Amino acid sequence: MGSCLSARIKAVNPSYSTSTLATSSGANSKISSKDGNGLSCSSSGVSSSSVPPTPRSEGVFLQLTNLKSFTFSELRSATRNFRPDSVLGEGGFGSVFKGWIDEQTLTATKPGIGMVIAVKRLNQDGFQGHREWLAEVNYLGQLHHPNLVKLIGYCLEDEHRLLVYEFMPRGSLENHLFRRGSYFQPLSWNLRMKVALGAARGLAFLHGSEIKVIYRDFKTSNVLLDSNYSAKLSDFGLAKDGPTGDKSHVSTRVMGTYGYAAPEYLATGHLTAKSDVYSFGVVLLEILSGRRAVDKNRPPGEHNLVEWARPYLTKKRKVFKILDNRLGGQYSLEAAQKAASLAFQCLATDGRSRPRMDAVVAVLQQLQETTRDAESMSKKHAEQNMHAQSYGTAPKRPKMMSRLEESGSAKVAYPRPSASPLYE
Ligand SMILES: Nc1ncnc2c1ncn2[C@@H]1O[C@H](COP(=O)(O)OP(=O)(O)O)[C@@H](O)[C@H]1O
Ligand SMILES: [Mg+2]
Repeated sequence: MGSCLSARIKAVNPSYSTSTLATSSGANSKISSKDGNGLSCSSSGVSSSSVPPTPRSEGVFLQLTNLKSFTFSELRSATRNFRPDSVLGEGGFGSVFKGWIDEQTLTATKPGIGMVIAVKRLNQDGFQGHREWLAEVNYLGQLHHPNLVKLIGYCLEDEHRLLVYEFMPRGSLENHLFRRGSYFQPLSWNLRMKVALGAARGLAFLHGSEIKVIYRDFKTSNVLLDSNYSAKLSDFGLAKDGPTGDKSHVSTRVMGTYGYAAPEYLATGHLTAKSDVYSFGVVLLEILSGRRAVDKNRPPGEHNLVEWARPYLTKKRKVFKILDNRLGGQYSLEAAQKAASLAFQCLATDGRSRPRMDAVVAVLQQLQETTRDAESMSKKHAEQNMHAQSYGTAPKRPKMMSRLEESGSAKVAYPRPSASPLYE
């Protein structure tokens, strides 16, 4: 895997809260790097204010991937000239537009005909953007997994840098957790746990012994949802090859997003897979609480989600204090405690005490199986009751039921979220 592509700079900027980042395309956390931590396979002496020409080695690499190389004019027509009303989202890299291409030929089609795509267009802000663009092509061009978004192709033409992905009809987890309005109904408990499991599987795949990639920018805006709420990681602009041999970490400049980056990484620049585990803990906490990692609009003492929530996570009777009250009684006390305790472990200050992502997957999977068992028990119980009413025999009540009925975990109080017209 192209270790020559491993230096990407995205500075942590504490003056922006993540909510600012999410809503404003101009205020992003990326800066141009002028340090010597550059691309070893790239041309040198390039000013950071202009997009560099493609070095020969990059051209050769791009040809080796199975990705389609689009022309700029093809993507312009696929997105109807990057129409503002087809913007799906904004990130630090640029804007993402909805477009259409023919499934077979991959050429631009009329809106509504063929396959829907998402086209990310780099803001023309120089070498930095080019690095992130190249990192995405490098990683997403080679890594394939049900919990990673599929990259279809790219455009590299003059100063233009674009990426073409499969379209994710339900957009980002960020929108579902934090956007208010009729398009975004609160996610149910079961869907939240499903999304957490899918995203955890994506990270566990990256960390696996064969791949060993550190994602480095795990946050809700980078978790996308398909029509079934299966989670897929997108935005590999900051991904980095993990340590090799007997090395414990890779040394980097500190990059990532304020509120999600692990404390030891912020302090030392030492990056390990456990930095991703910390970020996963932050996102799990956002999923459980419905609160943003950093929110300056909250009362004093509640701006930083981790600091505010940590004391409640391990106290069995207090876990409800941090749970999103829009969840109503959809979860069992046991499930909530397990999920909170998992978040607590992921957020351990000492990285070595955090679980590995495969262990996180195991816990979330078990949680889902327990919920499923509880649901089927509840169904069986209802059937037995009907039988008893018909034949006059009182069935033995399953032991779990009373607890579940108390907490109402078998009920789904909220309708499933409907897609925004943007994502239709
Ligand atoms: N494939 C996609 N399908 C639907 N929406 C997408 C897709 N890719 C990105 N988006 C939207 O655009 C936003 C920014 O995309 P992202 O890849 O994170 O860009 P950046 O690298 O600029 O941060 C996402 O949070 C999401 O709302
Ligand atoms: Mg992003």
